[in-house]
Amino acid sequence: MRVRAAVLEQFDRPLVVQELDLAAPRAGEVLVRLVACGVCHTDMYTASGADPSGYAPTVLGHEGAGVVEAIGEGVESLSVGDHVVTLFSPQCRRCAHCLDPRTNLCLAIREQQNKGYLPDGTTRLSRDGEPIRHFMGTSTFCECTVMPEIALDKIGREAPLDRACLFACGLSTGLGAAMFTASIAPGSTCAVFGAGMVGLGAVAGCRLREAERIICVDPSAPRLGLARDQGATDCWPADGNAVERILEATGGFGADYTFEATGLVSVMGEAVQAARTGWGLCTIVGVAGKGETLQIVPRLLITGRRVCGSSFGGLKGRDRVPELIELYMHGSLDVDPFISHRMPLQDVNRAFELMAAQDGIRSVLMLGGE
Ligand SMILES: NC(=O)c1ccc[n+]([C@@H]2O[C@H](COP(=O)([O-])OP(=O)(O)OC[C@H]3O[C@@H](n4cnc5c(N)ncnc54)[C@H](O)[C@@H]3O)[C@@H](O)[C@H]2O)c1
Ligand SMILES: [Zn+2]
Ligand SMILES: [Zn+2]
Repeated sequence: MRVRAAVLEQFDRPLVVQELDLAAPRAGEVLVRLVACGVCHTDMYTASGADPSGYAPTVLGHEGAGVVEAIGEGVESLSVGDHVVTLFSPQCRRCAHCLDPRTNLCLAIREQQNKGYLPDGTTRLSRDGEPIRHFMGTSTFCECTVMPEIALDKIGREAPLDRACLFACGLSTGLGAAMFTASIAPGSTCAVFGAGMVGLGAVAGCRLREAERIICVDPSAPRLGLARDQGATDCWPADGNAVERILEATGGFGADYTFEATGLVSVMGEAVQAARTGWGLCTIVGVAGKGETLQIVPRLLITGRRVCGSSFGGLKGRDRVPELIELYMHGSLDVDPFISHRMPLQDVNRAFELMAAQDGIRSVLMLGGE
């Protein structure tokens, strides 16, 4: 079939919206007609050429939601008409990692996915017979995509897909960091550094887990306003004194749980220092620049602080994302304020410009497929 897609032709150049060929799903694969797709930093990072593992040409996009249009041989968990959210972090339910509750890093298709191929080592996307590689196993800046069954989340049909797509990456990452990776205890004091999509998700996750005090630190006043609406009890501008203020507010001890959601190694350092003596847990979510390292004074660890990282909120996508979307459907989570702009695929480069200007939290591409 012919599909319209936004193609990264060359790094550091605008994406080019054009028609491509998309082949039918093979065994274990599913054809999804996309309805909506969030535009995330990772898309822009890859488009810029800064990601050393990036490649072109490829169809970017990984925060997709849509409707199953066809299934390949052997697909059992999905049927035509099902509503789905795409997962860049799949869940095969069989590999050593899927069978272990301690991690969500499924091993099933990682190698081919990182190279831009579907699990059988080929692509379904092409242009005049030339294969075009997939991106993050998803390639959702497109009217339709073909993806492995294990990378699709079946969700309830009532959930609006333009909101559901946010759960494909940033929002679930933040929520999960608080709810699953840190699994915070009720009554805790938490501090979240950064109030982008990920940090705001972490604030909401702390609230849903009944934290007593939720401190959020960010240089942007409007973003701190959003953090307050998500349940932050203390919103502080990032002025270099955050660690001191957190220690002061906690009798000199630090916060039970801290979260870093900026990608800045200096802020990661602050999040470690702001974690409580004795048992504080610092969860690092931001992705640092290539080659950057985090320096920690060992004494901070010896005196009881722990540091961990979290990928996709530590959650196993096919099990947990539908549960998180249910929280939204039942009114426990307000995601509408995160969507600042809706636009057609044609305007994808404008979404990158808005993101670079920190205008709003998320632009959502409306892909029309409903
Ligand atoms: N681990 C994962 O699975 C995963 C998934 C998605 C995104 N990420 C990463 O998470 C990070 C956050 O993503 P996002 O989409 O929320 O980004 P974002 O750019 O929207 O948000 C970052 C926020 O940090 C704030 N900030 C800047 N300097 C600060 C400082 N000194 N102190 C406190 N806050 C400061 C900014 O004002 C901004 O609001 C990025 O590094 C992203 O790559 C990780
Ligand atoms: Zn993302
Ligand atoms: Zn697996």
